[in-house]
Amino acid sequence: MQVYLNGEFLDQKEAAVSVADRGFVFGDGVYEVTRVVNGKFFQEEEHLVRLDEGLKGLKINLDEKIRDSIPDISRDLIKRNGLTEGEATVYLQVTRGAAFPRTHTFPDPEVPATVYLSSGPFKPHKELHEKGVEVITVPDVRWTRCNLKTVNLLPNTLARQQARDAGANSAVMIRDGVITESPNANIFAAKGGSLYTFPASNYILNGITRRVVIDIANSLNIPIITEPVRQDDLYDLDELFFTGTTTDIQPIVKVDGQNLGKGEPGEIVRSIQKEYNKRLYG
Ligand code: PDD
Repeated sequence: MQVYLNGEFLDQKEAAVSVADRGFVFGDGVYEVTRVVNGKFFQEEEHLVRLDEGLKGLKINLDEKIRDSIPDISRDLIKRNGLTEGEATVYLQVTRGAAFPRTHTFPDPEVPATVYLSSGPFKPHKELHEKGVEVITVPDVRWTRCNLKTVNLLPNTLARQQARDAGANSAVMIRDGVITESPNANIFAAKGGSLYTFPASNYILNGITRRVVIDIANSLNIPIITEPVRQDDLYDLDELFFTGTTTDIQPIVKVDGQNLGKGEPGEIVRSIQKEYNKRLYG
């Protein structure tokens, strides 16, 4: 597999960044993951706008020419890797660049940002979409700027591993008694025919898939209520599901070992899945 790093396409095994890179030393960077179906990038502009917002949030200055060439680089990359047919994902990461010696303050003078893209084949989790998944609840111990898609993912990876160790698929994170999101997806709850989701704020990543699902719900006349769901109300919900670029629309059927709703994917998630697949594959 070839990757793109700072202006060059290289074999993945040959690609290396400096040990002084601030992504390595401080986790000082942002990333995006985009789905590609038969060479078509899904919601590409939305991902790029969120990238811009993340860069701005971290005050990373990415050269405008490089930023504007990301769609071309992405297409070149999937061509080089033979991924123009079928399903793929493109991973994009931008860090503040390499600066030695290590200091917390930004490099002065400024150094060029490190730009890295990789791509690979993708297999949707169809069986999980069909049957639904079991999750555990974990405290949301992240910082309060979760709207930025930074590469600082330690609370996320620890939570996901904790779920795996408990024999579950993923986790539902709880902050101040309410459900925020999962370590790598947003969460929607259905109750009485309405959909609830945590408001776009600094406590969650405003997922691109989340936005598509809100649009789908509007088109299906399903009321959307952007209010947090309390952990205490979990088992009174009719349905719960994840949304994300690599998760798609994934029903949650069991929480902490207890059935949620009927313990099987409900009607609302099925109708959202159907519309989502039309948009993704249509
Ligand atoms: N994760 N919330 C978090 C914390 C995420 O990491 C993600 C995506 C989402 C869903 O966002 P989107 O719909 O834009 O993919 C929500 C990516 C896929 C990842 O870390 O691999």
